[in-house]
Amino acid sequence: MERRKNKIANKRKSLRQKMNEFVLDLKYLELKLLGKYATTYCYFLPREVQIEVTTICNLMCSWCEVSKRKVKATQQIEMDVIKPLIKSSKGVNSIRFVGVGETLLYKDIVEIVKFSKKYIPNVSVVTNGTFLDKSMIKQLGEAGLSSIAISIDGGDEDMCIRTKGESLHKVLESIKNITELTNIKVDVWSILCKENFESLKKLPGLLKPVGVDRLSFHHLEGSYETTGFHRLEEDSQSVKEFIDYMTIKRNELKINIYLDYLLIKKNNLRIFDMCLHPFSVAVFNVNGLLSQCCMLRSGLKEIDILSLRQAWNSKEMRNFRLNLIKKRYPQSCQACGYK
Ligand SMILES: C[S@@+](CC[C@H](N)C(=O)[O-])C[C@H]1O[C@@H](n2cnc3c(N)ncnc32)[C@H](O)[C@@H]1O
Ligand code: SF4
Ligand code: SF4
Repeated sequence: MERRKNKIANKRKSLRQKMNEFVLDLKYLELKLLGKYATTYCYFLPREVQIEVTTICNLMCSWCEVSKRKVKATQQIEMDVIKPLIKSSKGVNSIRFVGVGETLLYKDIVEIVKFSKKYIPNVSVVTNGTFLDKSMIKQLGEAGLSSIAISIDGGDEDMCIRTKGESLHKVLESIKNITELTNIKVDVWSILCKENFESLKKLPGLLKPVGVDRLSFHHLEGSYETTGFHRLEEDSQSVKEFIDYMTIKRNELKINIYLDYLLIKKNNLRIFDMCLHPFSVAVFNVNGLLSQCCMLRSGLKEIDILSLRQAWNSKEMRNFRLNLIKKRYPQSCQACGYK
């Protein structure tokens, strides 16, 4: 009887998930077909809720907002802020703990993953990977974490030290422990730039044996020339060469490799010529406030949250979407590659 009940509950969950995805795809279709005449209203909940749980970080990656800070950040989200936020996200398929800070430095991360699993099917964290010892891995596994995205920006020790200041060898060891000790899926996120793209070609071969599910390449956001790193997408020949190389590796190693919008756009493969983020992802900062954008959250007006459903289609969100639909990108979007 109990088993039958669970089976029905799981089927319901999966159906709701599929419906949500379908309605979101319809919204994308509307945007594609109606262009500037599309409505700013979103018919369902966001595809994903992202929450910044802390602004504290142990690293100083040269291209991250953390390295621009004048003072060391110390904020952690309060329990009485994050718990209602998670509860009000019930119905959303996925919740991701990520922001400008190191997620695993949040003191209550294990408890909050466990709490989220009661309401949301897919719970994930993004981390620099430096705190993934066996004890943390086991705790996250037992709490029910669905997936973990680990940032690695080089394919050899030197490049990893130069970009993030982390040891590649140590991170690979942690990934191996995650796949051996838990059911957590592992994604690797890499920033692709002129300086590291040759080194990154080594990553698929290193990640396959330790059991990584997906490797995603993202473009470098903002202007970071002074740090000695440059965007690769300006050099379309190198991007094409990189995509071709990764296509071969994807087939050869049977590893899931993904390249983000901008890298694809520069190769004329992008379907949409506008930013879709504020139509699909709800982003909350460490104070529990909704931002209109997932990138430059610090520069945007924030909305006090009553409930996710109300805030998602609030006047502020809809005005912001209207600007994107009309291609009137606000100042805060100017440096962003997604526009
Ligand atoms: C801000 S970090 C926070 C989570 C964690 N500290 C980490 O490094 O994974 C989230 C993601 O943003 C990426 N990131 C940081 N600065 C970026 C930039 N200027 N352009 C693109 N991605 C960036 C990081 O590499 C990481 O994958
Ligand atoms: S570890 Fe993450 S949050 Fe910290 S500086 Fe690097 S990219 Fe930024
Ligand atoms: S274009 Fe603007 S709204 Fe879209 S991701 Fe970039 S900064 Fe955010």
